[in-house]
Amino acid sequence: MGGEQLGGRLDHAMSQPYPMWARARAECPVLRYDDSGFDGRPSFHVTRFADAERVLRDWEAFSSSINGEVIGRYMGELILALDGPEHRHYRDLVAHAFRASSIERWERELMVPIVDGLLDRIAPLGRADLVRDVTSRYPVQVIAGIVGVPLDDHDRFMAWAEDVNSGPLDPERGLAASRAMRDYLEPIVEARRREPRGDLVSELVTAEIEGERLTDERIYGFLRLLLPAGAETTFRVMGSCLVALLTHPQVLARAAADPDVLHRVIEETLRWETSVTMVSRIATRDVEVAGCPIPAGSPVTVLTGSADHDEARFPEPEEWSLDRPPRQHLAFGTGPHQCLGMHLARLELRVGLAAVLGRLPNLRPDPDAPPPTVEGFFFRGPSSLPVLFDPA
Ligand code: HEM
Repeated sequence: MGGEQLGGRLDHAMSQPYPMWARARAECPVLRYDDSGFDGRPSFHVTRFADAERVLRDWEAFSSSINGEVIGRYMGELILALDGPEHRHYRDLVAHAFRASSIERWERELMVPIVDGLLDRIAPLGRADLVRDVTSRYPVQVIAGIVGVPLDDHDRFMAWAEDVNSGPLDPERGLAASRAMRDYLEPIVEARRREPRGDLVSELVTAEIEGERLTDERIYGFLRLLLPAGAETTFRVMGSCLVALLTHPQVLARAAADPDVLHRVIEETLRWETSVTMVSRIATRDVEVAGCPIPAGSPVTVLTGSADHDEARFPEPEEWSLDRPPRQHLAFGTGPHQCLGMHLARLELRVGLAAVLGRLPNLRPDPDAPPPTVEGFFFRGPSSLPVLFDPA
């Protein structure tokens, strides 16, 4: 095979990994990589649904501590990196703020005004790029609003979040952003301590279980995680929902009129094209998954995207279809670390998509642009969505 041809195949596998994962599920459901860059340790990728579910539920054999190794230095004490009772305790203290009843108010106070504001700008134009103009802005503004960052500071806040994320590649920049974010958030946290308002930060600073509260390290660690965990993920799934709708125009028409159809669109898209295709664990002892021996200390990647395309659970998995019987998927993970923001994400998607479909009549792909496509490896979503509609 020529170098160019191989390069082309690798590029394709990086942007469209599902065919590669389908082969693995059929032939070798746990992939072993000997040169994975973890100080010579082999790493393993789990591809089937049942194995993925087992790994995610067994925190004793598959620890989340690996999540702290790389990014913890920049984000602070990460909920994502803890195990067992210590994780449970941290999670219990923050979970209250994410219950369905606690987030209801954000629909009226933040989601509707934010998405309407974004749509006001494009509705008269008759054309837009829905990624550039709507999906890449909406969830990030909602999270910033939930944290209590004033509208004018959103861009600064987003830039820090990006710098914190890039810490492993550029430590100086990562640490500077981590400090800047804390300096910025400190007055907000202190103000809520003095005078709680019933918002997210107030919940975090006042939450108490058996006399114990969150330490400052955990409060700031949690707030630094929220933007990447909540915004990057939701914006990409919203784009993938729109790809599915634009390529299934009859469903688009029904979804605009019927909230139940919209709900099914969201769940099927989460299964078909989740935005986070994998999560990380580390084996704490010698274990076996699907007959494959995994030595203690090996990084284990659970390919939740592949698991949700496992034909043993979802027949014809590449197909996006609302006729599937509802079955739990792994887009939000499972077990002790199952996504804390899943109710919020679902609500944001429902409110955001209903507004786009309601405000942009006769929505259709721009015929002069490439067809809408979902792409990516770790993160997946469309990079642009050029559309036409009837101007308001
Ligand atoms: C469609 C959007 C989303 C997807 C696909 C998603 C996916 C996930 C997944 C797969 C995990 C499990 C990670 C693991 O097991 O290691 C997770 C955890 C988490 N997610 Fe989400 N997420 C989304 C939206 C959100 C939102 C909106 C928030 C909050 C604002 C959020 C906050 C979190 C937090 C705090 C955790 C860590 C929970 C823990 O460690 O106990 N996520 N998410």
